Amino acid sequence: MAIVISGRELAAKKREYMKNEVVKLENKYGRKPHLAVILVGEDPGSVSYVKGKEKACMEIGIVNTTITKPVTITQEELLQIIQQLNSDPFVDGILVQLPLPKHINPTYVINSIRPDKDVDGFHPNNVASLYLKQPGIIPCTPKGILEVLDSANIEIEGKRACIIGRSNIVGLPVSKLLLDKNATISIAHSRTKNLAEVTREADILIAAVGKPLFVKKDMIKEGAVVIDVGVNRNPLTNKLCGDVDFDNVLDKVSYITKVPGGIGPMTITCLMENTIECFLKHMEDKND
Ligand code: GUN
Repeated sequence: MAIVISGRELAAKKREYMKNEVVKLENKYGRKPHLAVILVGEDPGSVSYVKGKEKACMEIGIVNTTITKPVTITQEELLQIIQQLNSDPFVDGILVQLPLPKHINPTYVINSIRPDKDVDGFHPNNVASLYLKQPGIIPCTPKGILEVLDSANIEIEGKRACIIGRSNIVGLPVSKLLLDKNATISIAHSRTKNLAEVTREADILIAAVGKPLFVKKDMIKEGAVVIDVGVNRNPLTNKLCGDVDFDNVLDKVSYITKVPGGIGPMTITCLMENTIECFLKHMEDKND
């Protein structure tokens, strides 16, 4: 019988814990952690993500400022806003919601965020820290995936893990985190030949490909752990769905996460953890 791991329940437990921590932090340091989020344009997916972040901040007691700008904002104007947030001693974390409009270069934007406020862990300094096993900020979705695996006591060492997708946000960093836990990794992508042959080798299969219901039974090893990172609309029903055809694979897996209620809530929870981490670093640096 497959076990469905609830990211929603795990996230709720962690948020309850953080809520208590934030009270203690405010007592100790005289202020709460503060996350600033910048949203450019009105892409429905992005608007919904940003709302989720606001709700989580409110739940936990993290101060949240959301700066909403029209899609016509220039790159220069956006960089100026980031500079102001970079130099504001009362802002601990800065997140620019992606994707950005075509006339704005996301690399310039990400690189302009102060690394110690980069709660996404996308700045080159933080990416380098991850690859060199130095302290830094770990991207939220990969961190959430590792926490989900840990919560179900899933052994990683010595296992074969396959990640479908090679993005900077999920595929590459989660591969590195699993490698550091001594899994043997394969990263599959759109040019992989005989994809099902590759994925069928995996004890742990992570789907981060962005294609609704892409992963079917024939791609899965009997008893595999399947983590679904996809957030898609089912083209037939228009309902939210993952990259994995949940009903199709369920009787073949040992553990699986669902969409919605799986990795999504954990991503936002890890963003809250990263904000608290940045806050603590700022408080410690102030006392040096
Ligand atoms: N858009 C989709 N996922 C993410 C994320 O993790 N961070 C940011 N900033 N934008 C995103």
